Amino acid sequence: MPGLPNATEAFVTLVTNPEYGLGAAVLGYKLRAVGTTRATVVMVTETVPETTRAMLAKTWDKVLDVTQLDSKDSDRLAMLKRPELGITFSKLNVWKLNQYKKVVFVDADTMPLSNIDDLFQYEELSACRDAGWPDCFNTGLFVLAPSPDTYKAIMKRACEEGSFDGGDQGLLNAHFSTWSHGDISKHIPFSYNVNPNASYTYLPAYKHFADQVKMVHFLGAVKPWHYQYANGKVQGQNLTEHTRKFLEEWHKVAEMVKQSYYQPTSAAPYVPPMSTGSTKPAAPSSHVVPDDVSSVLSHITAQIKNKEKAKSSMY
Ligand code: UDP
Ligand code: GLC
Ligand code: MN
Repeated sequence: MPGLPNATEAFVTLVTNPEYGLGAAVLGYKLRAVGTTRATVVMVTETVPETTRAMLAKTWDKVLDVTQLDSKDSDRLAMLKRPELGITFSKLNVWKLNQYKKVVFVDADTMPLSNIDDLFQYEELSACRDAGWPDCFNTGLFVLAPSPDTYKAIMKRACEEGSFDGGDQGLLNAHFSTWSHGDISKHIPFSYNVNPNASYTYLPAYKHFADQVKMVHFLGAVKPWHYQYANGKVQGQNLTEHTRKFLEEWHKVAEMVKQSYYQPTSAAPYVPPMSTGSTKPAAPSSHVVPDDVSSVLSHITAQIKNKEKAKSSMY
């Protein structure tokens, strides 16, 4: 159900390229499938091609242009082993969306499994613990109140201090530095931002609480779109049962999203989460030029080989 046009609360994500565009298309689809009543807004930067924007417009209420911001801090990003994440400074544009009173920002590599609208009860800045350093919050999901003043203050800090991880998470943890020892009502349960590659650090808990997972965050260099998927199955060794289930759900939705993109004249049929649906992409229809999706898919396929090694160590 699309959010009301005059909504004062919104889910927002960020996309700077076609790969994350596919991630966001899945996320937008799932937000609607789990029945959000809030507006959904995807921020795109100038580097996002028109065809990706068209795909996003099918599962998000608004596709909004924002300025691309990059920390360009290659030294700290090298430490994180993620040179591509300087661009995550573009997330900060979310504080400029003051047409909304409250926003839940979610990364484009996340996927809700059930309705998460209760997150709008939280105040700025609420977030979940980061599995790698639990005194920091993870910025794959956070609740904020847009404000141009806060935006300016965060940008000032970025200019003066930079970010300790080169991305938005280091900067935002420095800015909202009382989070870990301050008001505990700003601590969102981990079940709203579960990253499957943290599972090996505490597998019994992952198994015990698996049914309570509200949102999955495919954090790390290896993303769902790097996996091969055929006949409803994800190819990959060393995957826990639940990680495999989450990846297969992501791919099932990705297939539906791609299918609806190839048929832009009809509305995407929203199916409830975890239900079965066609996993085969439809043949491209003659009135659409699927150049972008095709190039994304071939690019992703080319990447799969290089990621094989990383995959086995990440999951
Ligand atoms: N992002 C993007 N383009 C990029 C890298 C990141 O649009 O090249 C956005 C996207 O919304 C993504 C978020 O920034 O989910 C954070 O990056 P990522 O999820 O890769 O970081 P991780 O959660 O793996 O640390
Ligand atoms: C983290 C977060 C991601 C953030 C990145 C860079 O691992 O999951 O959302 O963009 O660090 O700071
Ligand atoms: Mn992420």
